[in-house]
Amino acid sequence: MDIARAGFDIGGMNYRVSLNKPGGERWAGIDVPAGRTILEAALGQGIDYPHGCRSGNCGGCKSHLISGEVEMSPYSPFALTEEERRRDLILACRSVPWSDCTVQPVEADEEAVHASRRLDCRVAGIDRATHDIRILSLEIESGGPFDFTAGQYAALAFEGLPARDFSMASPPGATRLEFHIRLVSGGRVTRHVLGALRVGDPVSVNGPMGTAHYRKSHRGPILLVAGGSGLAPIKSIAETALAGGAAQDMFLYFGARAERDIYLEEHFTALASHHPNLRTVTVLSEPDVPTGRRTGWLADALTADFDDLDGFKAYLAGPPAMVESCTESLHALGLSRRDCHADPFYTEAEKASDGSG
Ligand code: FES
Repeated sequence: MDIARAGFDIGGMNYRVSLNKPGGERWAGIDVPAGRTILEAALGQGIDYPHGCRSGNCGGCKSHLISGEVEMSPYSPFALTEEERRRDLILACRSVPWSDCTVQPVEADEEAVHASRRLDCRVAGIDRATHDIRILSLEIESGGPFDFTAGQYAALAFEGLPARDFSMASPPGATRLEFHIRLVSGGRVTRHVLGALRVGDPVSVNGPMGTAHYRKSHRGPILLVAGGSGLAPIKSIAETALAGGAAQDMFLYFGARAERDIYLEEHFTALASHHPNLRTVTVLSEPDVPTGRRTGWLADALTADFDDLDGFKAYLAGPPAMVESCTESLHALGLSRRDCHADPFYTEAEKASDGSG
């Protein structure tokens, strides 16, 4: 419950929130006005609190509630599971204090601690991947180098348009940044990219963000699951892992609707021919012509192909419904929650529906 919305006479009441650093060391104290979230107040008071989407979808602001009470507005179960909520974990971007509190961001994964940057870039290439996906290459003009971990995303702002989040498809360290942009129904930004954007146009890039990133310390098998333009972060992870010498089994499942939605197939075939530990599977959910490919739902293909995923690490990206169904299949096959890193691509309309999916 939000006490301001609930109609209590709270006047200008603030709650005092003590912030610890991820390791537990005392960090700062902030005043959070009634009805404001902890993240809003922290950022507003100049504190660089860990965060990503600010809308309850990414888990980037996940924190321990050490003491006190908060009320959380709706959020995605990908950002915070029920089990985590029971362990007093909260999302600072959805949490309105209901008393004085102490909170502590979860331990940052050392592989993804990068300073947030704003880069000025220019469009270096716009390539047609499918009828509704373009591969955008950006040349960094200033603000670089761009340090990120494979699987993360950034906010791209095209001239005169609001910023939107897209995942990096290129591996960290590549000379150009690559993004895969799919036309979203009613989306001004994606319509601009597929229609009016030209080589040479300026783009600002802010980031990196996101927690569904590659964990290179994992030595067990890796399962990569992508739907549509969710192939972008999955490509970055696969290329980074293979370039870094990862020799464990790696399975890449790509789900698309029909033949015309498949892209970068030759790229991944070539990658697999150089790295025999990588196997790729494409699954079409609604083939429009007779096909020799796998058909059906990606989640069912995973269930059919694996018996036990104990010891695997999985990375998933794409439409929320696909990510959700595949995540359920993977957990049913024994994948632990801590080994499942999901990046559901919510549209702005879905985010506006309060992040509940
Ligand atoms: S910043 Fe809170 S869930 Fe993304």
